[in-house]
Amino acid sequence: MIINSELEQRGNQFPNDIKEVRQEVDTIYFTTLNEVVLQLTVIRDSVIRFRYGTRGILEDDFSYAIDTDSYTGYNHLELTENKNYHIVTTAKLIIKIEKISLQTKILDKEGHLINEDEIGFHYEESFTLGGNIVKMGKRAHPGETFFGLGDKPVHLNLRGKKFTNWATDSYAFGKDTDPIYKSVPFYIGLKEKKAYGIFFDNSFKTNFDFCQERLDVTSFWAPGGEMNYYFFYGPSMSDVVANYTHLTGKPDLPPLWSLGFQQCKWSYFPESTVKALAQKFRDLRIPCDGIYLDIDYMEGFRCFTWNKEYFPDPKRMIGELEADGFKTIVIIDPGIKIDPDYWVYQEGLENDYFCKRADGPYMVGKVWPGECAFPDFTNPEVRDWWAGLFKDIVGDIGVRGVWNDMNEPAVMEVPGKTFPDDVRHDYDGHPCSHRKAHNVYGTQMARATYEGVKKYVYPKRPLVITRSAYSGAQRYTSSWTGDNVATWEHLWIANNQVQRMCLSGMSFTGTDIGGFAEQPTGELFARWIQLGVFHPFCRVHSSGHHGDQEPWAFGDEITNITRAFIEMRYTFLPYLYTMFYEYSTKGIPMIKPLVYYDQEDPHTNYRTDEFIFGNCILVCPILEPNSKGRRMYLARGTWYNFWDNSIIEGGRELWVDADLDRIPMFVKEGAIIPRYPVQQYVEEKVITELKLDVYFKIGKEASQVYEDGNDGYDYKKGRYSLRNFNLTGKEGELTIQQHKSGTYDTSYDTIKLNLIGLSFEIKTITVDNVEYDLNILENDGKCLKLSKNFAVVNLMG
Ligand code: GLC
Repeated sequence: MIINSELEQRGNQFPNDIKEVRQEVDTIYFTTLNEVVLQLTVIRDSVIRFRYGTRGILEDDFSYAIDTDSYTGYNHLELTENKNYHIVTTAKLIIKIEKISLQTKILDKEGHLINEDEIGFHYEESFTLGGNIVKMGKRAHPGETFFGLGDKPVHLNLRGKKFTNWATDSYAFGKDTDPIYKSVPFYIGLKEKKAYGIFFDNSFKTNFDFCQERLDVTSFWAPGGEMNYYFFYGPSMSDVVANYTHLTGKPDLPPLWSLGFQQCKWSYFPESTVKALAQKFRDLRIPCDGIYLDIDYMEGFRCFTWNKEYFPDPKRMIGELEADGFKTIVIIDPGIKIDPDYWVYQEGLENDYFCKRADGPYMVGKVWPGECAFPDFTNPEVRDWWAGLFKDIVGDIGVRGVWNDMNEPAVMEVPGKTFPDDVRHDYDGHPCSHRKAHNVYGTQMARATYEGVKKYVYPKRPLVITRSAYSGAQRYTSSWTGDNVATWEHLWIANNQVQRMCLSGMSFTGTDIGGFAEQPTGELFARWIQLGVFHPFCRVHSSGHHGDQEPWAFGDEITNITRAFIEMRYTFLPYLYTMFYEYSTKGIPMIKPLVYYDQEDPHTNYRTDEFIFGNCILVCPILEPNSKGRRMYLARGTWYNFWDNSIIEGGRELWVDADLDRIPMFVKEGAIIPRYPVQQYVEEKVITELKLDVYFKIGKEASQVYEDGNDGYDYKKGRYSLRNFNLTGKEGELTIQQHKSGTYDTSYDTIKLNLIGLSFEIKTITVDNVEYDLNILENDGKCLKLSKNFAVVNLMG
């Protein structure tokens, strides 16, 4: 307790003896003699909320992060006590609250300690700003590892590092730069192969220390608000992430075209440049679905206007692009130019929609258009107004997606690069200063944009992309990782950031492929494309100041490699879409770090380069120049080398060849991977056949393929097609059962099985109890065409 007295001297206060315990259904209040109250709520058997108030007071309960539609419910809740502890027991957890200190220990049902307070909750009163600096200290065990926390540009395992969450415009950030654009105060701990998660739902500048200050302590704190955190128990990391994503919300399916390739630059203008760009994609036969217009499409950077010199008739242009299979996405920033003749500014002013300083003047800051006012997106009325601004641009002109940038919010030429702390916000009827609203500002902007785009693009689905985000943003928007740099180190960062975002509930993320600042070499661009096609959001973007960064900017060899990998992404579209379906319905990350894939294998705990694309393709990017391959760790299990179908045992490090036209890729045995033909854009072709790459295995494996109308909302009425496959392989026998649900009738009538690694020669083929002649086999006995509705196919050797 020496530490406590030291901390006490520095002004910290601690809860003392519990004097009162009160239960209200799923919530138990523990109050101490010195009036600290712990509100413990059982959300689910494995999800517990801990919330602490001082002076006996809890704040009005409000959070932007929590999805109010997320269902709750537990099977068991019991409150007991012994000499030293009050004990809360659920069907999955035992939570002990120490009577003399309010410190907690969380154990699983078998009595294994999962997580325990070290100092636990403590606080300092903030005499200058009011309220408390709220703190939590947890014991960290030797070998415990930590993951999550959004977009941090560091090694996947966070142990030994300290972080701050304060959304920051971070042009050309580097490895270890902290903080950057996003604030996702959620982390996963892995202790003795069991995973848990902690979500500190506090929008102030939160801080996390993973054993940096003290080797055996993990702590988190904030200079205001409440100590309010959710604890998730696994023991699988998959359940932890799914439960976190469930609590903070899952996105609807995006339009399928948004999973196609996207091309961006600062900036494509005028119209002739955009048209030439589009034409070049088609001429070179490089698939592409989205073209992005950066700030120069506007009139003097005024949002919701068009520069009529560059784009005399945007509606016509966008229509022509659509006819050629391109969707147009435009950037919209939060700063509204202060210009008395500009209608958006006028409306904002008249209706009192702009943020103000504490003493009343408007919050004025410089961004691209010069001096700007900034809508208070934390005000629901302002969000409604903002949504309505998309009527023309989306509803009439035909823009299909909106890209929100600078929404940290970024302000130029000021030291903090953002609003001063005193700026006032509505915070949905809980008025506060910028200290509390800063981290949610970007998400509330994206939310308002989403509402607008969704309304006016109807009956199509919306696409929003954001730079800044707080937990829960995934309900409204995809994201990119901001202004990275065209260096090899940034390729490493990109790989870590997207994996980390996927672990943090925000799968629909990508990086500026090739790097935003500076110019990549052709080799770096090729290596980045090879990684980028496996990211849920796949967009090339660059500042445009250093030269071109289109797929053809680096000579024929690189163009051909780029084309091949973008084509590969298009062939994987049904696989990608199924990944999104699993994310959107179950909160399963679209790509999975190795530690998530196999947390029981200690080797994975410290890996950071390899990841699993979907459920069964292991990818490891080449991150160094002049490589002919690399050493990597192959997860446990049996794998097929994607490139030559050779079979290889995992659970070990190995050298893998990968010349410039290859990336190390392995497919899990038993996998069934759905593929479409190459298309120049989504829906270019009517799909006449679904190809399934079947990777033979002795044993069983389940997989699924989700499809629907690719856009629109009919899928919500059951108009989707979900094919569940069960593969069973034995010596000399392969059986695949199909169970189909949903009422969507896919355009193809046949499914083609592409049999890979079959260990026997086929002698009999039986489909739904009918025996077929062997000559229905194609391609040297490797391919079998079936009616799409087959129930069971059995192949015997
Ligand atoms: C910011 C964005 C970048 C964009 C530029 C101009 O730097 O991060 O993506 O191109 O602003 O709008």
